[in-house]
Amino acid sequence: MAIPIPEKRIAEFENFGFGLFIHYGLYSQLGRGEWVLYIEKIPVPEYEKLADTFTAEKFDARKIVSMAKAAGVKYITLTTRHHEGFSLYDTKGLNTYDAPHSPCGRDLVREFVDACHEFDVVPFFYHTTLDWQNRLYKTDFKAYLQYLRDSVEILCTQYGKIGGFWFDGNWAKPKGFNWEEDELYAVIRKHQPDAIIVNNTGTSARGEAGNPELDSVTFEQGRPTPMDRDGMSKYYAAEMCHTMNAHWGFGHSDLNYKSLASLIETFCACRKVGANYLLNIGPKGDGEIPMMQEALLLGIGEWIKKTGDAIYEGKPCGVLGQGKNFALKKGNKLYFYVHDLGIVGDSNVTVEFGGAGEKTFTGVNGKIKSVRWTDCDETLSFTQDGETVKIDCTGYPYGSNLVVRVAEAELE
Ligand code: GLC
Repeated sequence: MAIPIPEKRIAEFENFGFGLFIHYGLYSQLGRGEWVLYIEKIPVPEYEKLADTFTAEKFDARKIVSMAKAAGVKYITLTTRHHEGFSLYDTKGLNTYDAPHSPCGRDLVREFVDACHEFDVVPFFYHTTLDWQNRLYKTDFKAYLQYLRDSVEILCTQYGKIGGFWFDGNWAKPKGFNWEEDELYAVIRKHQPDAIIVNNTGTSARGEAGNPELDSVTFEQGRPTPMDRDGMSKYYAAEMCHTMNAHWGFGHSDLNYKSLASLIETFCACRKVGANYLLNIGPKGDGEIPMMQEALLLGIGEWIKKTGDAIYEGKPCGVLGQGKNFALKKGNKLYFYVHDLGIVGDSNVTVEFGGAGEKTFTGVNGKIKSVRWTDCDETLSFTQDGETVKIDCTGYPYGSNLVVRVAEAELE
């Protein structure tokens, strides 16, 4: 058997490495997550009134995209329509339950795409497949699916070149249910042949490959596992999406934020197996980005700046490290991702997290010439015995701690 060769767009998608997810909709005004309609059993006519107060006056696409750029993301996936049924784009007469027909009066998808083009970030469209608001969903499913395709066709034809589509909701029906996926994806292939197509398998079927038109598997809120692509009919990329706290849509009382350290480690855990990391923010009702979310995002950007961009194009290469340590290969270089190093200094102030010292990596193919930290000029001593390399990893100089430190090795 053999591992299939990725199609060009899929190989490019894998090299994106890091994306930003944005959950924004009417629900953001309530600040109790994007499932609030369903969970609190709010009657649809009452929920729809949220469209009358939707102004999005602080939704500043340029600000969001430039922030995302500073954070180092290569693509952004925006909820153009979530399960609540409200569209951030102009549905062109399909209905008026959209941002341009609300007091907001703007096409937020247009603003988003324009800003992405300006800052050279690739726009992706999240689109729900299930719908809690549209009557057809319950009364005439065939007609609903046509409405869904018409909606997607608008997104395919009105906004220029789109990086990809991210569908979500098929998990709501039993396995094998006919969502007419072929017809939906045909709309995309017709207008946007190079777009990546993803359909979230949800939390119950992480990493599962589906329709052959799909380009990536998903690991919602999980830990991506290495994919066994041997004998697969097609090369699927992998992507894991994660919240920063416990909700996708804004939660005004959700203080349960992950730490910057854990986000960096999770990012690394994704890249260790070649999966993209799609990290979510949930703007407030008026579109403003919560301070904490911005700070965490920019923190990751700092980390990337200090440790280098092998995190994007570096590939898993069979090198094994101890614990969470691993290596990626890019060109003629290996990059060792070293976790839990200690800080060098006075024991009264440097609380040890792990330690400096010799770190062993096995499965190294090729002879290493030299090793250095990417965040400073220091070269590291090492020994190599066949495929086993032992690197003397020095601790962080007092004043620094990068959570995961990266050593670059040149191969002969
Ligand atoms: C789930 C949820 C949804 C969220 C998505 C993100 O499927 O239904 O609210 O948008 O995951 O991965």
